[in-house]
Amino acid sequence: MCFGCIFSEKQEVSDKAMNKYDGTEKMVLERHVSDALIQAALEARTMAYAPYSHYTVGAALLTAEGVIYQGGNIENASYGATNCAERTAIFKAVSEGCRQFRAIAITGGMDGEAPLDYAYPCGICRQVMGEFAGRDFIVIVAKNTADFQEYCLEELLPYGFGGESIK
Ligand code: THU
Repeated sequence: MCFGCIFSEKQEVSDKAMNKYDGTEKMVLERHVSDALIQAALEARTMAYAPYSHYTVGAALLTAEGVIYQGGNIENASYGATNCAERTAIFKAVSEGCRQFRAIAITGGMDGEAPLDYAYPCGICRQVMGEFAGRDFIVIVAKNTADFQEYCLEELLPYGFGGESIK
């Protein structure tokens, strides 16, 4: 499904909150934007392919232009070939020329059940987010649009390894 651009004309998508990692101010999404992103992640979850773990994950990635890319986890009989939902969404966007992202919403749970817990991104997905995301990139883990947690990537990946180290 294409969500088109979800930004309002004013482009006001962010609010402020405290970064639990270092106590500084951080950006959080406006409610109508987080709602749309979580809805898109819940929908993406229905398209996940998880016949081995039966744990389905949906992710929705918001680009700087306000476009949403969705992704589900895609498992494989050779388990190591599995791709997480977050990376599916990120790779879809990057492979279409998009490299500037504002936020990602993630939902996960057992197949056929509503999410019971927050589905935090695995370490590999945090690293891949870090490759393309700025300091203010927002990660939402959601059970539904009314029950979610919002972080900046730095809270989830402090002291991360990045490309500047190997220049
Ligand atoms: N999974 C994700 O899609 N994202 C994560 O960040 C963690 C794990 C998937 C991979 C696998 O298909 C299933 O969840 C169980 O590990």
